[in-house]
Amino acid sequence: MPDKQLLIVGHIPSPNTQALRDAVQRGASSPDVDSVTVTTLNPFETQAAHVLAADAIILGTTENLGYMSGALKDFFDRCYYPVLEEKQGLPMAVYIRAGLDGTGTRKGIETITTGLRWKMVQEPLLFKGKWNDNWLEEAEQLGLLMAASLEMGAF
Ligand SMILES: Cc1cc2nc3c(=O)[nH]c(=O)nc-3n(C[C@H](O)[C@H](O)[C@H](O)COP(=O)(O)O)c2cc1C
Repeated sequence: MPDKQLLIVGHIPSPNTQALRDAVQRGASSPDVDSVTVTTLNPFETQAAHVLAADAIILGTTENLGYMSGALKDFFDRCYYPVLEEKQGLPMAVYIRAGLDGTGTRKGIETITTGLRWKMVQEPLLFKGKWNDNWLEEAEQLGLLMAASLEMGAF
């Protein structure tokens, strides 16, 4: 059986957001999971072909001006229609780094991915307020859970 494909699309405009995405990737690449291939990209690098090849996706963004980052929005703008028909039901998870809010970002992502008919399989993780090192563990667990669930065929 070919490996299942897990795509991580994470915006990394700062050291903290880089650390969060690294943690998600670390969890997803755990040695406890062996039949999942992880691809990690920033939103600008991500093409529709990456999504078409994915069996599950994790999206990570900052909140900027009350909404998801322009980078993640650009990803959706470019990839929405090219994947719309083929990827309905795609299991997805989201993490958001917000200075103080995050609700507009969550709502925006939910609206777009509802249109895509993607399936949110984890409660969105919202890292808001002053930086907390414990978030790295949560981010790692998110990656591990998605990869392990994919391996087990849980979606
Ligand atoms: C232009 C700009 C707009 C922002 N707007 C929001 C916002 O609307 N809501 C919010 O919670 N945080 C906002 N932030 C804070 C970012 O989400 C935060 O800087 C980012 O997640 C990086 O966090 P870090 O300092 O932990 O790396 C904004 C930041 C910038 C630079």
